[in-house]
Amino acid sequence: MLKNPASKYRPFHPVSLPDRRWPDRVLTAAPTWCSVDLRDGNQALAVPMNVSQKLELFDALVKCGFKEIEVGFPSASNTEFAFNRRLIEEGRIPDDVTIQCLVQAREDLIEKTVQSLVGAKKVIIHLYNSTSPAQRRVVFGKSKEEIKAIAVQGARWIQERLPRLAGTDVRLQYSPESFSMTEVEYAKEIAEAVMDVWRPTPERKMILNLPDTVEVAMPNVYADQIEWICRNIRDRGSLIVSLHTHNDRGTGIAATELGLLAGADRVEGTLFGNGERTGNLDLVAVALNLYMHGIGSGLDFSDLGKVVDVYERCTGMTVPPRQPYAGELVFTAFSGSHQDAIKKGLTEWEKGGRPNWDVPYLTIDPADIGRRYQEVIRVNSQSGKGGVAYLLEAEFGIELPKDMQREFGPIANDLVDALGREVKADELKAMFWREYVDRVSPWELVHFHADGVDGRFQARASLRRLGVEAKVDGEGNGPIAAFVAALVAAGAPGFEVANYREHALSAGSGASAISYIQIKTADGRVRWGAGVDTNIELASMKAVLSALNRLG
Ligand code: KIV
Ligand code: ZN
Repeated sequence: MLKNPASKYRPFHPVSLPDRRWPDRVLTAAPTWCSVDLRDGNQALAVPMNVSQKLELFDALVKCGFKEIEVGFPSASNTEFAFNRRLIEEGRIPDDVTIQCLVQAREDLIEKTVQSLVGAKKVIIHLYNSTSPAQRRVVFGKSKEEIKAIAVQGARWIQERLPRLAGTDVRLQYSPESFSMTEVEYAKEIAEAVMDVWRPTPERKMILNLPDTVEVAMPNVYADQIEWICRNIRDRGSLIVSLHTHNDRGTGIAATELGLLAGADRVEGTLFGNGERTGNLDLVAVALNLYMHGIGSGLDFSDLGKVVDVYERCTGMTVPPRQPYAGELVFTAFSGSHQDAIKKGLTEWEKGGRPNWDVPYLTIDPADIGRRYQEVIRVNSQSGKGGVAYLLEAEFGIELPKDMQREFGPIANDLVDALGREVKADELKAMFWREYVDRVSPWELVHFHADGVDGRFQARASLRRLGVEAKVDGEGNGPIAAFVAALVAAGAPGFEVANYREHALSAGSGASAISYIQIKTADGRVRWGAGVDTNIELASMKAVLSALNRLG
């Protein structure tokens, strides 16, 4: 890299808009959405989608609720043309969905595009040509006037062919490609020249799409450009101003959101931001960003996992694990303090009584987009007792007492650390079983019986100690106390029960009750034990032995 990047690169000169209004606005409604997955997204694939993949993705987009879908560039290839024809001839386009087709300002291409649309109910013909200084100089070698003439001629060729689409509801869209690198005054001039041909009205608006074809500046700069156009262009009321951001600097979503504040009405993008280079705008993220502020987007991502599956199958792309909302790890916390806060927040939410979602670290309720609470918490060496306890409870109904969580948390953590990877819930349960429930040495229960009256209980038990069976008995004010007395009489170190909890285990766990007992020895050592049995009394006695065995 250069020591002095200024010797090669220059700052971006923003548009002058000292009285900009967008920073004081807030979004209160969703824009019109247009998916360009099947065109811009498809163009960016190493292996573009075939017709059946495009059909499957089209159906998925319709299911998500997109009413405008750019289906392709029908003049660019036979596949694209055939795709349009299948959609139309097989009646696959719902009446409330408009298909959009992109075309350059070339007569043969416009002709083919129009042919591909014959018989469709609702279409948008999307004309574009590139307008930035670099494109004018390097690619076209043309002056501003000549570039404007290309747009105007393209607009005329389309206009002339509209009678061929009689019976079709046709809307027209123009994009000055590379808009964000184009002088705003010139972008306005060229857009108005196209408007002179198409003559939009407030009743029959034209879409003016303003692409951030390559993201070259901060999102506030794009917002200024959009606000400048919205305030200065002629007949704003006859236009639908549309945004089309890419993500070269990683701020495509921010640019779109600020562009909406700046006055735009419509947004183009793709699922999960697929698109050329660093991608297009991620429509899912923008829609769910609105949703988390209580703004209905009109799009339905209630089974986002299914959308991910179709997307990955059709495009061959993968959704990264930390992709906003959709990534596998988005609703996962490994850090102990995060887990603890999430666990408390989820418990409070599940109890009810709070009007709005306010769970720490979770911007939306994962259940709203088809994700499960259970996957929220995953355990690795960074996790603490909260996550461990949450998983045991959520997956197996094991409700560790708080103090026992403090004991088992670090034990589980050390085991996970030694493994050097994340552990699944059943592995965690196995660790718990090994540490507590399966601790049957040196003391193991063979048989137990207690009875008593008026707070005096007699316990009689058979115990196996280091493989040798012995009968013991003792007396106390309850079955557990009587058992403790029997154990001490049989040679166990003196101890008392300091804490006790039991509960039924969920169905299917293979046992009906679990008991947790904490003991404190005469010399001050404290240990938890756990016992599982179909008989709650036996579960408690096993828990006492588990704690005793853990003294080591
Ligand atoms: O990024 C872009 O500028 C485009 C246009 C064709 C709209 O995709
Ligand atoms: Zn694009």
